Amino acid sequence: MSVNAFIASHKDRFLNELLDLLRIPSVSADPKFKEDVFRAADFVKNSLERAGVDRAEICPTAGYPIVYGEKVIDPSAPTVLVYGHYDVQPADPYELWDSPPFDPVIKQTEEHPEGAIFARGSADDKGQFYMHVKAFEAMLASGELACNVKFMIEGEEEVGSENLDLFVQQNKEKLRADVVLISDTSMISMDTPSVTVGLRGLAYMQVEVTGPNRDLHSGTYGGAVANPINILCKMIASLHDDENRITIPGFYDRVETYSETYRDQLNKAPFDEDDYKRKLAIAEVWGEKGYTTIERVGIRPTLDVNGIWGGYTGEGAKTVLPSKAYAKISMRLVPNQDHKEIASLFEDHLKAIAPASVKVKVVPHHGGQAAVVPTDSVGYHAAEAAIQEAFGKQAIPTREGGSIPITSLFQQALGLDPILMGFGLDTDAIHSPNEHYGVKNYFMGIETIALFFQHFARLHPKG
Ligand code: BES
Ligand code: MN
Ligand code: MN
Repeated sequence: MSVNAFIASHKDRFLNELLDLLRIPSVSADPKFKEDVFRAADFVKNSLERAGVDRAEICPTAGYPIVYGEKVIDPSAPTVLVYGHYDVQPADPYELWDSPPFDPVIKQTEEHPEGAIFARGSADDKGQFYMHVKAFEAMLASGELACNVKFMIEGEEEVGSENLDLFVQQNKEKLRADVVLISDTSMISMDTPSVTVGLRGLAYMQVEVTGPNRDLHSGTYGGAVANPINILCKMIASLHDDENRITIPGFYDRVETYSETYRDQLNKAPFDEDDYKRKLAIAEVWGEKGYTTIERVGIRPTLDVNGIWGGYTGEGAKTVLPSKAYAKISMRLVPNQDHKEIASLFEDHLKAIAPASVKVKVVPHHGGQAAVVPTDSVGYHAAEAAIQEAFGKQAIPTREGGSIPITSLFQQALGLDPILMGFGLDTDAIHSPNEHYGVKNYFMGIETIALFFQHFARLHPKG
């Protein structure tokens, strides 16, 4: 039986297994779900074993474990290392979901007329890494597995992969491979397949502004004592200028500028701004002057408030001048910007602009470097060939705005350029209520991954 015939005759089971995985609420950020995260790791190990790996193991870390599995068909054949993550983002706010986040249902959408699976983690990343497990099973069962395969599926991606660095450094031999294949990104659409060739980095900061030593009556003290929320808002507002450029000194020092030719090429990717606005219910796009939306997301850095709080936010009105104000601020970075350096420029600047009436504390959270993937490697050509065969179209290289910190770690520690062949859509609502993943995307992904293995084996130099 061919790979595709095997996939076609096991469709129901392939889908139901994913639904079972999606029922496990493996939220890495919230300790309440600790047991579930471990349970998801077991599920992944068992599914690798059932798919036919020689061995699978749960590798403990200081945090959540990394699930490793491998199948060696021939030591002289090339090896594909598959990376993915079984942890998911918190599902909050639950009340904005149309169906419970850990009780998957299949419904049609505008983008997915053939149905999409609604559940937290369906697109990011359970539905995507599980395609690799199923493609592997189908290749092995049909006698068409042409490469050795190693799986490394982690459980802390959504909280910054802090224990992954050490694991990779300590297991270089075990992880030795000829290419890393990751499905944790998007493509433009089912009609316009693409391969991600760039991801942004990230510096995530928490800011705490303290005014008076206790909450005050806003009448008794209002107007005479600095209000830390007012001050924080003013400080944040000053972080962008009139052209929406970031005002932190040194922030752009290492930002690469691209040639007109490169920018023209990026902007050739199909992008319908009216459709984009309609789907988000916004009247205008917004961003740094002089750049298109594709460029603003792909090659320019950003600064965004992710959350801001302080004072009274309960029912009704309470007159209070709060002692403290907080904000969580993320900066998306581009190649050459170093997330640690940016974190310290941010901290210095916030302290420099704070008036003497308040104290400012800055705590960096996780970070990661940006990555660019060359388009002239054997792996990239294998991805292009697989997509051409599965979709009948030439893949467009795109630069995406999200971050996968492991990408640059693989480049540095293992000397391997990851191939970012994802099958999600930007409209799949990852990290948002009603996250979903197309059923068709799932099965097309499985087919395309199997083709990648074939083409990689064919194109990889022997010896
Ligand atoms: N899969 C995403 C990254 C992504 C999203 C890439 C969209 C391309 C398009 C990943 O799971 C993720 O969410 N990463 C975090 C960073 C991490 C350090 C928490 C992110 O981008 O916010
Ligand atoms: Mn992801
Ligand atoms: Mn994510």
